[in-house]
Formats: sequence, structure tokens, C-alpha cells
Amino acid sequence: MQDLIVTQGLTKIYTMGDNKIHALADVSITIRAGEFAAFVGPSGSGKSTLMNLLGCLDTPTSGTYHLGGRNIGKARGNELAHIRNRRIGFVFQGFNLLPSATALENAELPGVYNGMGMRARRRKALDILERLGLADRIHHRPYQLSGGQQQRVAIARALMTDPDIIMADEPTGNLDSATGHEILELLRSLNESGRTILLITHNQDIASYAERILNLIDGRIVSDTGEGSAAS
Ligand SMILES: Nc1ncnc2c1ncn2[C@@H]1O[C@H](COP(=O)(O)OP(=O)(O)OP(=O)(O)O)[C@@H](O)[C@H]1O
Ligand SMILES: [Mg+2]
Repeated sequence: MQDLIVTQGLTKIYTMGDNKIHALADVSITIRAGEFAAFVGPSGSGKSTLMNLLGCLDTPTSGTYHLGGRNIGKARGNELAHIRNRRIGFVFQGFNLLPSATALENAELPGVYNGMGMRARRRKALDILERLGLADRIHHRPYQLSGGQQQRVAIARALMTDPDIIMADEPTGNLDSATGHEILELLRSLNESGRTILLITHNQDIASYAERILNLIDGRIVSDTGEGSAAS
């Protein structure tokens, strides 16, 4: 499979007054299309910083990042947003759903921003929610859903734009272990249907769902099990 994510010497330094925090130091990695990779490391090791860079949510202090052959460092703000919206779906620990909106309205949201027509986005959101086993929960608001159901709504929302990459930052952090495993199985099935999955976690057991594990300590990749057997 082709190289999808390629970084060279990716570095992020946060400056706070006289203090410089090396959140990410010299990260050079290649992720191929179709891989399921987990980034694992303790709190503060730079996992979210790395995801923000790979997800085009932030720019590095130095180093380069190519996504699908495109030099992201040279992309401008609105171009960056366009690449992000078209290619990447995000899933977060806290679900980040709109509390006053129903499951259906939450899932539809990226279609609203994308300028999809109302009927088309409704049909698409319904279809995705149904596939994720939420057909009988579409009119529920987040507080009327279990944690696992809320996370599935968040995953449905991430799938609305047909992203080829899903980035999940501690997606099971707020779930009990059985529900967490369901969500990880869902990510695995999305990988089997061809999507590239980047999973971020501090937990080695959770990381073992991935084909490839990269360990981060103090902003550096200290081990990498190597490219997985990405679906060819
Ligand atoms: N906006 C910021 N300004 C200054 N320092 C930051 C900022 N964001 C992160 N940091 C620092 O960078 C380091 C890496 O943070 P990061 O959030 O990437 O860690 P993490 O591995 O995701 O941790 P956790 O598992 O707790 O989520 C930490 O020392 C953190 O304090
Ligand atoms: Mg984090």
C-alpha cells in the first residue's frame, strides 16, 4: 500500500514565558494507507500533540509532514481545513457531542458544514447510524444515551465525510472495559473496510487492538513494531 502519512523530524515546542516545553521531538514516521496504528505513551508524552499535527489541527515548530503526498507545512489555513474536513474523522475521549441535539442531528453536523443538502445528509446520517446499531436511538439526546452509544454517535459523525483516516484520541477513556472493547471492535471493522486508523492511548492492552504499536516517551518515538500487514 502507498505511504499516506510521512513525517520527518517533526518537532513541537511550546513556549510559556521563559520556559520551552519540548512536547514532540524529532518524530519521523511513515504510516501506509490501510494501517491500524496505535500511539502509546504515558500522560504528557506528546500523544495529543502528535495527533493535532497529523490531524492538521496544528502546525509543527520544525520538521515536515506529507499527507497523501501533499506537503502540509506549505498549506494555508483554509486549505488545511479543507484537507482535514475531507480526509480525517476525529473521535475524542469526551465524545464532544452537542448536548441539545439528537443523535441524528449530531451525526449530520459535518454535512451541514460541508454544504450537503438537508435530505442527502439526513439519509446519509440515518444510514450510518443504522450500520452502527443506533437505528432505535436517533431521536435521543446525548444525556439519554449510554457512553458507548454516545461514542458510536461520535463515530457516525466522524464518518459523515467519508474520511479515509480516523484519528481516535483515548476513545475508550470514558467507557467501562466491555463497552470500550465494543468501540475498539468497531474501529477494527472500519479498518477492515479500508480506513486507516490512528489510535491514541496510554493503555498497552487497548493498543494491542492495533496491528502496529508506536511507543512515545517524552515526545520521542522509542519503539515501533513496524508497518502492519495493511490490507492490500
Ligand atoms: N498548548 C500547550 N501549551 C503548552 N504546553 C503544552 C500545550 N499542550 C501540551 N503541552 C505540553 O506538552 C506535553 C505533551 O502534551 P500532550 O497533551 O501531547 O500529552 P499526552 O501524551 O496527550 O498526555 P495525556 O495522556 O495526559 O493526554 C505536556 O508536557 C504538556 O504539558
Ligand atoms: Mg492527550
